[in-house]
Amino acid sequence: MHAVAIVAAAGSGSRLGAALPKALVPLAGRPLVVWAVEGLLAGGVDEVVVTVPATERAAFADALPAGVRLVDGGATRTASVRAGLAAVTDPGRPAADVVLVHDAARPLTPPDVAARVLAALAAGAPAVVPVLPVVDTTVLVDDDGAVTDAVPRAPLRRVQTPQGFDRATLVAAYSALADDAELTDDAAVVRAAGVRVTTVPGDERSAKVTVPHDLTVAELAVTLGPSGTVTA
Ligand code: C5P
Repeated sequence: MHAVAIVAAAGSGSRLGAALPKALVPLAGRPLVVWAVEGLLAGGVDEVVVTVPATERAAFADALPAGVRLVDGGATRTASVRAGLAAVTDPGRPAADVVLVHDAARPLTPPDVAARVLAALAAGAPAVVPVLPVVDTTVLVDDDGAVTDAVPRAPLRRVQTPQGFDRATLVAAYSALADDAELTDDAAVVRAAGVRVTTVPGDERSAKVTVPHDLTVAELAVTLGPSGTVTA
């Protein structure tokens, strides 16, 4: 099973308050995107395509290991993944059987997570996402911020990446999607095409780096070392 990963890394990092693209922000001295790529390769992915801001190609090429391909991203994450997928399906390359899509913003995703996603794909699932339970009481609010209802949390899950797909299924789902569609993850793209999405346990260490506090937590996690897995 030939597995190619697309790492979405073309975001700006404005919420992180960084002067450089978020994926290039250092965590323990190495850019977030380098952590993300290395975790995928350690988890069993054969090849990696990284979608980058077009103006920052040189900086990404300097940071990433040889053999990682770079593709200019788009204005939205959906557009960036679409560009990455076009590179994966390049007829001049070995055909991928499965595609994993991961966020550079999840630098500390343990290799085990990619391995679980790959195992589920190998067992025949067309689409797989890592998930974690929701532990907080979760409510709906009105426009004024007043609580209108509580949502039963037992069936709720937080969805992480890497998300894995049968390549042909993902390509067909993106082809069927409107050009200007903007969805927050790739499972939503295949679900829109009627594909069943299955789950595997995610990991708290896959937490997304969005605001400065997240980077502080990630730095601490690297400093303190492995700290137990919380699974769904
Ligand atoms: O902004 P957010 O953290 O939700 O982005 C998730 C991932 O998608 C990040 O790794 C970011 O670099 C990537 N992204 C992208 N192209 C965009 C916007 C975000 O590849 N236009």
